Amino acid sequence: EHDIGGLVRPDDGLVSPEIFHDRELFDFESRRLFMRTWLYVGHESQLRKRGDFISTYMGLNPVLVVRQNDGGTKVVLNACRHRGMKVCRADSGNTRAFTCTFHGWSYGLDGALNNVPMQQAAYGDALDRGKFGLVQVPRVETYKGLIFANFDEDAPSLPEYLGDMAWYLDALVDRREGGIEVLGGVHKIVHRGNWKMGAEQFAGDNYHAFLTHVSASMSWRDADHEADPNPLKPGFQYSSRAGHGLAGWRKNGMDDAPYVPSADYELVAQYYRDTAAEVRDRLGAERVDGPSLGAGNVFPNFSFLTRVFCHSSIGIWHPVTPDTFQYWRYCVVDKAAPAEVKRAIMNNMHVWPLGVADSDDGENWSEISANLIGPAVRDVPLNYQMGMGRGLRDHPRFPGIITESYVAEESHRNFYRRWREFMTSEKYPAIGADEPAIATSSSEGR
Ligand code: FES
Ligand code: FE
Repeated sequence: EHDIGGLVRPDDGLVSPEIFHDRELFDFESRRLFMRTWLYVGHESQLRKRGDFISTYMGLNPVLVVRQNDGGTKVVLNACRHRGMKVCRADSGNTRAFTCTFHGWSYGLDGALNNVPMQQAAYGDALDRGKFGLVQVPRVETYKGLIFANFDEDAPSLPEYLGDMAWYLDALVDRREGGIEVLGGVHKIVHRGNWKMGAEQFAGDNYHAFLTHVSASMSWRDADHEADPNPLKPGFQYSSRAGHGLAGWRKNGMDDAPYVPSADYELVAQYYRDTAAEVRDRLGAERVDGPSLGAGNVFPNFSFLTRVFCHSSIGIWHPVTPDTFQYWRYCVVDKAAPAEVKRAIMNNMHVWPLGVADSDDGENWSEISANLIGPAVRDVPLNYQMGMGRGLRDHPRFPGIITESYVAEESHRNFYRRWREFMTSEKYPAIGADEPAIATSSSEGR
């Protein structure tokens, strides 16, 4: 039995490395956290016709997201009721039935067990097929095309769960009429590390970029694109007591896009300039100035990049073992964008996993995981104290908790504050006390 309250002490800005390593905590987390939070499972643009499906995971559970005959969406466990085999082994596609490849039990789009080979000879009248359909995930809700599902009947609605994060998400999903669509397939990147390392980074770690990605950014320099000599850029961090977080920054103003060494850079940068006025009208200047360029994470493991290096993407940090996770990343584009711009945005995204930035982050995560084998390393807490007591609760321009700095760790502390609430509560946890204000720093540093 772990003393989770002792391992994770966000009020002191301290987190034990054990939460990135311990097997029992990982197993406990797979139920306590991943069977109660709203988890991203797919985008409506991937399910256009009846029978379209996506195969993904909710925590450790394999699931199928399926467009129904009536146009609705169901999420079912991808596990046969006979011996537990996957009933679908494709990433995505279109089908009329999911037929298990072990003994051939066959399920409809709604998960009903419709056919059992040799049923009469094998079972006589003893098999009640109605009781052995695929397990349904009871809650499925969408936010502007993003499909989320939840195993917990007691969880609040998706809008309530997202809270003020929805305002920031709009800068990604609602820039233009028609919203966004997922383009192309999926990058699946296997990382050594704990899934929380990726999630907390997207929830607000601008601090790593100037050093971790220094070689990438140096290699991007050319005659027209000088390296930025100042690592501390204008920016802010959004943090939510619900565990969500976002790192926002700006480069050369809201209409521009950070350089990426791609033949398609100019085409996409011009598209962002051309649509800037329309987007500003639609979302308001505040939202365009602030969150329209940055990285975010919806608690616990759905992340996104908005217009970063001339592309936008959404991703999931799938846990696999305590020290392995998969990062699944999808390119997203404005549905209203011209076809050649959509293709160019996708080309810009492909630069990332092909050795540019993802490998930099992955090296940190795998080195940390290797270090955590050492019990002495796990005995000392890690420092999450940056910007303590500096989050503004009533910011004049942005909703949520705002730290007016490019670098901060309040969103990390709130990520682990919320994580601890899920891990220590038997019932769906209410959101508890806020970060204590530190009297001495409330007037300084703001
Ligand atoms: Fe699926 Fe036997 S495991 S039919
Ligand atoms: Fe990074």
